[in-house]
Amino acid sequence: MTEFSPVLQSKIDAISIKGKPTQMGALRFQNPLILAPMSAICNLPFRLLMQELGAGATVSELISCHGINYGNEKTLKMLKLHPREKNIGLQIFGEDTQAMARAAATCQEYGPDFIDINMGCPVRKVVTKGGGSALLKDTSKLSSFFKNIRKELSIPLTIKIRTGWDEEQLNAREIINIAAGEGIEFVAIHGRTRTQQYKGKANWQYLESLSDTSKLPLIGNGDLNTPEKVRERLASTTMDALMIGRGALRNPFIFLESQLAPSIFPHFSPADYWQVIERYYTYLSEFTERERTILVQLRKHIVWMASGFEGAATFRNLIFQTTAISDTLEVTRDYFLKLDQLGPVSKQLDCEKSFMAGGHG
Ligand SMILES: Cc1cc2nc3c(=O)[nH]c(=O)nc-3n(C[C@H](O)[C@H](O)[C@H](O)COP(=O)(O)O)c2cc1C
Repeated sequence: MTEFSPVLQSKIDAISIKGKPTQMGALRFQNPLILAPMSAICNLPFRLLMQELGAGATVSELISCHGINYGNEKTLKMLKLHPREKNIGLQIFGEDTQAMARAAATCQEYGPDFIDINMGCPVRKVVTKGGGSALLKDTSKLSSFFKNIRKELSIPLTIKIRTGWDEEQLNAREIINIAAGEGIEFVAIHGRTRTQQYKGKANWQYLESLSDTSKLPLIGNGDLNTPEKVRERLASTTMDALMIGRGALRNPFIFLESQLAPSIFPHFSPADYWQVIERYYTYLSEFTERERTILVQLRKHIVWMASGFEGAATFRNLIFQTTAISDTLEVTRDYFLKLDQLGPVSKQLDCEKSFMAGGHG
């Protein structure tokens, strides 16, 4: 493992101990800030990195129950966890109860702390088959759906939903009630409807209102894209925990910075970002077979991490011209270390502009 410098590691440690352990049913998370599942992103290297940078729990990308049941090699690789991973959930998707139950049982053998059902994916290919957010539509089948999956497991089963199918059917409250009756451990809710996809804003007013009647611990999610926003929400929320997705891509320190007073943002320098990239590269190379995949993943994350810093657009063009990993790393090191010499720099992110507006939840 690439060690962080003693200075960076002590900054991380000092903030990490501020995190308030959070009971979520039978599970106890290090703190109430959870990394959201994101397809093609929340693989082992990224999850491990985010855990080390303060995420209280993490969830894998969505994994097809049919892929698992067919024993598809690529799918089964997605189930592998690192021995150091803690409070990790494997997320599965599908429409068929028996297939989901079988897949959940297989997932359990890989040693996660919980199994999560994707009930928020808005993608047509998934929804037309009845999986993802289509599960929000016909609530009459949900009770037996949950019961049959639950009975295959000795670890907690959780769900991630949206507020409803559309504005006319905001039925998260009803789904939480059904889930509570079937022994679901907690519910994460993305504050948008399926129809909204990623447009508009997450409906936090509705999310916050759900705690009034919920018998289950709830996790609120949507648009918590800066440490300031996370911190503010954390201070006022009625929910038990918060989930952060895209915000962690542009600021890998979001889990840590959210625990600090705004007066000390940014707490991490461009040189710290460079160290994070180095460690991410180490994990990628350890756990990814194809050189090309490492390059593609690495470039993508580097560009996200640079966004908001001075000269990021020019840097982005340079990075996408590199075709050898050694060049990618050299250009990146050069950029972040030069930036560091300018003194303390804040990210200037335009959070109103859409970013990664398309995903599986
Ligand atoms: C690229 C991308 C991939 C996603 N993949 C998943 C997924 O596999 N499973 C899931 O439940 N949600 C998925 N989501 C939704 C996120 O978990 C989260 O609900 C959403 O991005 C809103 O949170 P945010 O504003 O903090 O990003 C994805 C989102 C994005 C942007």
